[in-house]
Amino acid sequence: MRNSLSAIAILAPLLALSACGNPDTPGGRAADARHENFEALGDAFKTIGDELKAQAPDAQKVRAAAATVAAKAKDMPGWFPAGSGPDAGLKTDAKADVWTKPDEFRTVMTAFQDSSVKLLAAADGFAAGQPVVGLQEAVKQAGGTCKKCHDGFKTD
Ligand code: HEC
Repeated sequence: MRNSLSAIAILAPLLALSACGNPDTPGGRAADARHENFEALGDAFKTIGDELKAQAPDAQKVRAAAATVAAKAKDMPGWFPAGSGPDAGLKTDAKADVWTKPDEFRTVMTAFQDSSVKLLAAADGFAAGQPVVGLQEAVKQAGGTCKKCHDGFKTD
């Protein structure tokens, strides 16, 4: 017990650092929060993909993960405040284009938001006993909108 507690005490600051490690400024905190939000989004989306690969996907697990994806999608417009990008000298994989091409950025984000609403509806349908193919299609569509934004607005 004591050992596992001290292990957590040692690991906690490291885990906090690995989040991104930007300076404790409004822009730095926003960039780090964005990073954590994207990791949570990525984890939720991966959960759905993993369940779809399973012999018998757990519909409740899929539904919960799809709800997380949809909630993150709704929040996403607030993740990119001015001064949280590479131009501010921060560690981030977001391209400056996020801020210099706001209309294009908003278009790809809206496409993702729309697809996340459909994904949640498909997860509900699957949980209600509809064939898995509807969910598979919705995951494919949503994944395409992730990629579209990454291709344009995220460094590799
Ligand atoms: C509107 C644009 C946009 C959409 C849509 C989008 N992303 Fe991203 N994503 C980004 C940007 C920009 C970053 C880099 C963020 C940073 O480093 O500040 C990123 C970073 C990430 C990361 C990296 C976190 C890390 O460890 O560095 C993951 C994982 C991720 N996105 C997954 C997804 C998934 C999965 C989807 C769709 C379900 C998605 N993203 C949709 C723009 C987007």
